[in-house]
Amino acid sequence: MEKSEYYLELQRVFSSEFSFYLKAANFHWNVEGQLFGQLHELFERVYTEVYGSIDQYAEELRALQITTPASLSTFSRLSYIQDENMPGDWRSMLQELLMDSDMMAMKFQQLFMVAEEFGDHGLSNFLADRQDAHKKHSWMLRSSLK
Ligand SMILES: [Fe+2]
Repeated sequence: MEKSEYYLELQRVFSSEFSFYLKAANFHWNVEGQLFGQLHELFERVYTEVYGSIDQYAEELRALQITTPASLSTFSRLSYIQDENMPGDWRSMLQELLMDSDMMAMKFQQLFMVAEEFGDHGLSNFLADRQDAHKKHSWMLRSSLK
């Protein structure tokens, strides 16, 4: 992979992570049903963890002298996450966020390997941690669907 493609992918996955955070917050606010309390808390747990990683990711990009995407229009242009304007019922929220979390885990896994190739070991450690965090989010979302 060319360095310019690698850097663009770092920006795209950063934008996706921010969009993922927003979607988990969206579901935290808008979920309804008998399981409200449980799912309201689960979505909060997910968005809080993801939000806690955003600043470090942004600053990892800056350390590589990459511009950090930081506007809604840029996020919408670069993100792999499908925006959600009409959230469905609690089950479809869980399914959608699970699909997105699995995709994020895969994106972080792929980026980890590219970062290793470029010798960005501090960044690759961070990316590996993000992959792991998304696998845990996926586990909780998947378990709540059974
Ligand atoms: Fe809240």
